[in-house]
Amino acid sequence: MCGIIGYIGKRNAVSIVIEGLRRLEYRGYDSAGIAFFSGNSIEIRKCTGRIKELSSILESENPLSKTAIGHTRWATHGKPSDENAHPHRSGSIVLAHNGIIENYLDLKEKMLEKGYEFKSETDTEVLCHLIEDYVKKYPFEDAVREALKDVKGAYAIVIIKEDEPEKIIGARKDSPLVVGLGDEEYFLASDIPAFLSYSRDAIFIDDGEMVVLNNEGFVIKGSDGRPVKKNVWSVPWNLSMAEKGGYRHFMLKEIYEQPRSIGDTMRGRFNPEQGEVNLAEFGLNIKQMKEIEKVFVVACGTSYHAALIGKYLIEDLSRVSTEVDIASEFRYRRPLVKQGDLTIVITQSGETADTLAALREAKTLGARTLSICNVVGSTCSREADYVFYTHSGPEIGVASTKAFTTQIVALYLFAIGMGKAKGVISDDLSRKLLKELLMLPTQVEDVLSIDEKLANIAKEFFKAKGFLYLGRGINYPIALEGALKLKEISYIHAEGYPAGEMKHGPIALIDEELPVIIIAPKDSLYQKMISNIQEVKSRGGILLAITDDSINNEIFKISDKCIVVPCTNPYLTPVMMAIPVQLLAYHVGVLRGCDVDQPRNLAKSVTVE
Ligand code: AGP
Repeated sequence: MCGIIGYIGKRNAVSIVIEGLRRLEYRGYDSAGIAFFSGNSIEIRKCTGRIKELSSILESENPLSKTAIGHTRWATHGKPSDENAHPHRSGSIVLAHNGIIENYLDLKEKMLEKGYEFKSETDTEVLCHLIEDYVKKYPFEDAVREALKDVKGAYAIVIIKEDEPEKIIGARKDSPLVVGLGDEEYFLASDIPAFLSYSRDAIFIDDGEMVVLNNEGFVIKGSDGRPVKKNVWSVPWNLSMAEKGGYRHFMLKEIYEQPRSIGDTMRGRFNPEQGEVNLAEFGLNIKQMKEIEKVFVVACGTSYHAALIGKYLIEDLSRVSTEVDIASEFRYRRPLVKQGDLTIVITQSGETADTLAALREAKTLGARTLSICNVVGSTCSREADYVFYTHSGPEIGVASTKAFTTQIVALYLFAIGMGKAKGVISDDLSRKLLKELLMLPTQVEDVLSIDEKLANIAKEFFKAKGFLYLGRGINYPIALEGALKLKEISYIHAEGYPAGEMKHGPIALIDEELPVIIIAPKDSLYQKMISNIQEVKSRGGILLAITDDSINNEIFKISDKCIVVPCTNPYLTPVMMAIPVQLLAYHVGVLRGCDVDQPRNLAKSVTVE
């Protein structure tokens, strides 16, 4: 996610904002910028690359200003470039933004009709012109309030206006914004680390609220423009903890970010009332979707497990034959990709060498290519014909968690879109499936409440020599993912297996020292899973079941430990089942004293073969 910061006070705002941006670097970014006053006019300096490039631009000028705003950009619309970097300007208005303006295309059209010229590809610039348009009719603060009434989507913004050098306005909806209270100086930021060196007193702005800072103080107002009373919170954290949002590790923070990342990834990509997926988000139109007769899905590691889930989704919802490959295998097996087949590559980083090579191989064979990717402007996102960006924000922990569940959401939307285009699923079914998707962030929030139970289970089993994960159908890949998560952060050997395969070998492993994790929602394969559970029990195995809170669920009674997650439609259970296996792996890794954010031998992006 982007980082924003604003400062107004008695010190040099430029150096404080640059320092604050450095404190937000952990959020991940591809470009940075700052705006400051020179007299009554505003200067902007911005560039792709790191903060040090930005500060070297400023060194020669050594500007002095009491007010400044700054931004680190994590691209969501428009590639990383100087023009797309924030802050953006329109006339007297300069602003920086963290979030996604969902209706930016509609607003852009209106602004173009009014004669505004665009210099960037960003959704943010639209907001800039909108506020400039309103400020011609209203005072600064009212103009911001009126403009935000036209906006749909998520935003945390800091705005300054020429000729008003002693004011910063901030506002938020669905993206964080916090006020830092110093001694005759005030901060606005996405996150506490930006100002923690100067103040531990913070006020969290809530959705719909606006804050006006000047060098005498600040006022926070509700959407009706009336002042609201807020509590001042004293930050108990040190800087390292603050970068993790108070969580002990980035991995845990990112597991807990999943309600937001899933919400951000689905936002603006479908219309549940009409039961329509916005196919344009996948770069394809309905005619192109109809023409696709074969889909190949290719990825590595956790993304490969999402690909396997994608097969179940695409084949079940669109009846289009779908093959899944590990990227390093795909590129050497002379795949039977025909002209016009669709190859989907799934990659969080967009830089995985094997996945990139598979993408290039597929293009050589004449396939249309779609990249489901989390990093705007990454190589895979640029080289594929089409790209669907997951909006999970930077994933800092090496073990992929929030990117994985957003990849499943992307594939769910794709499968519904393909199914509708092929006439395989009805309007009613697609409306039902999309309405159930809307509930997913809340359901994931509910699942996170079992964290303590998993921490206790981890305490019982973190010394085990190995783990076996079993699943069936669309949840078989979750067995693979659970095993991979455990392996890569706790260094315990673990295997994921299709539960039906157990009697063909792995059953020999079952004894009273082997924890067996059974991924068993009460779906059409439930009775089969019950027999697998009996097979494990009769050989003295330790059974940890993850199931859903469906009625008459025998699993509650027959398992040694039972984790229950909310019921959802069968196509979304992999998301529900993923959270417990992520948390279990995390707690086991911590108990074993492993570096769960940077596990030994691993890299966040494997850019070599
Ligand atoms: C997952 O936790 C691992 N870090 C690893 O398997 C990862 O999923 C794999 O390297 C693929 O990375 P990508 O999604 O960035 O292509």
